[in-house]
Amino acid sequence: MTDKAKLDVGGKTVELPLVVGSEKEVGIDISALRQATGAITLDYGYGNTGSCESAITFLDGEEGILRYRGYPIEDLAEKSSFLEVSYLLIYGELPTPQQMKDFNRNIARHSLLHEDMKNIFQAFPPDAHPMAILGSVVCALSTYYQHGDETHEEGLNQSIYRLMGKLPTIASFAYKKSIGQPYIYPRTDLDYCTNFFHQMFAVPTEPYPVHPDIARALDVLLILHADHEQNCSTSTVRLVGSSQANLFASISAGISALWGPLHGGANQAVLEMLEAIKAGGGDVKKYVAMAKDKNSSFRLMGFGHRVYKNFDPRAKIIKAHADRVLSLLGMDDPLIHIAHELEEAALKDDYFIQRKLYPNVDFYSGIIYRALGIPQNMFTVMFAIGRLPGWIAHWKEMNRSDKNRIGRPRQIYTGSTKREYNPIHKR
Ligand code: ACO
Repeated sequence: MTDKAKLDVGGKTVELPLVVGSEKEVGIDISALRQATGAITLDYGYGNTGSCESAITFLDGEEGILRYRGYPIEDLAEKSSFLEVSYLLIYGELPTPQQMKDFNRNIARHSLLHEDMKNIFQAFPPDAHPMAILGSVVCALSTYYQHGDETHEEGLNQSIYRLMGKLPTIASFAYKKSIGQPYIYPRTDLDYCTNFFHQMFAVPTEPYPVHPDIARALDVLLILHADHEQNCSTSTVRLVGSSQANLFASISAGISALWGPLHGGANQAVLEMLEAIKAGGGDVKKYVAMAKDKNSSFRLMGFGHRVYKNFDPRAKIIKAHADRVLSLLGMDDPLIHIAHELEEAALKDDYFIQRKLYPNVDFYSGIIYRALGIPQNMFTVMFAIGRLPGWIAHWKEMNRSDKNRIGRPRQIYTGSTKREYNPIHKR
């Protein structure tokens, strides 16, 4: 293969260099395109557009491969822990025992919120969606830590520990607020996931003992959500961060992007869909037909992916994990049977086969969250807790790169051409 692409635009030819990644992916560097030809590229939804070079996550959607910093997701889900994976994503290497100990301690020590921040929670209406609270309170962290200097490693690390430590606290406070229970403070003697269950479900009058297998079940889910290269929320974090907005503000923007039902909000939407199928007598075929009907806006939630045109490797792990967690808890959730039936019906259907639509990470995750006692409107919050280290890793990589420029796409203008202004009394 040559190392250049040739493009002819209205008779003007430009040679564009090819950029080849470590897994042999090829990109055409079009930085010189506009200057040489006057033209720009147009790519709705950015399906063909690379926004950066990145050394964090590799995924091959055709083959169903996902690796963080070179390590297969299957190995990490089986052998690692969420905080170890977070370290790997953020700092590029697996930690030594001492680095791991320090990282755990620094995160645990930063898990308390400033007492005044409780007033922010008080101001939200009782039925506020926890994703709205999460995004707002994370942005508000930047008002409490205004003087941290993220251009230096130490300052950036402080912001990282604060975000990793406080996000579960913010999430659990949002939940406690919605049910009118007192906020439960974090315990630094517990591991990350056990502490999260403690903050969610303990009350001042009673502790909430957590079985290690249950804590581990959550840990695996968080690992599976920890990064997914340039998805909508990560690209948002990068775009906001490219203006040199601080880490808290950038992560808050990522939380907003994640909220939508086509992205992280799908896990809540999947459960709502499975419940609707159950309430309607369990007729999965009706829902498959509705998803295929071009006159209906309904989509099979938890199905399809922009990048995976094969089984989402995370969905494979989550499906097996869901069966394990339910049997561990001795639960027989009718929704899992509906999910299995729906998956089977869709995978046999020509519409889904032709379009290469497979279950994605969200198809089974909601069933596990439900079994763990997490309320439905908190599912996307759980996704955000999992995705946080990925967002941080991308913000850091971009912020420290000498190729970083403010993100500023172009457009093709389709509005009016020049017009005469008519004063209001003459209109
Ligand atoms: N149900 C029915 N049809 C679907 C579905 C679905 N879930 N997903 C895609 N299609 C169809 C589209 O209608 C389209 O059909 P057409 O070619 O006849 O017009 C074709 O498949 C291609 O779909 P696009 O919308 O072009 O695919 P895109 O890459 O833009 O969207 C997305 C990907 C948003 C994930 C989509 O598959 C979807 O809406 N899925 C349901 C929501 C969901 O599960 N989101 C979670 C994604 S994973 C994550 O963010 C963690």
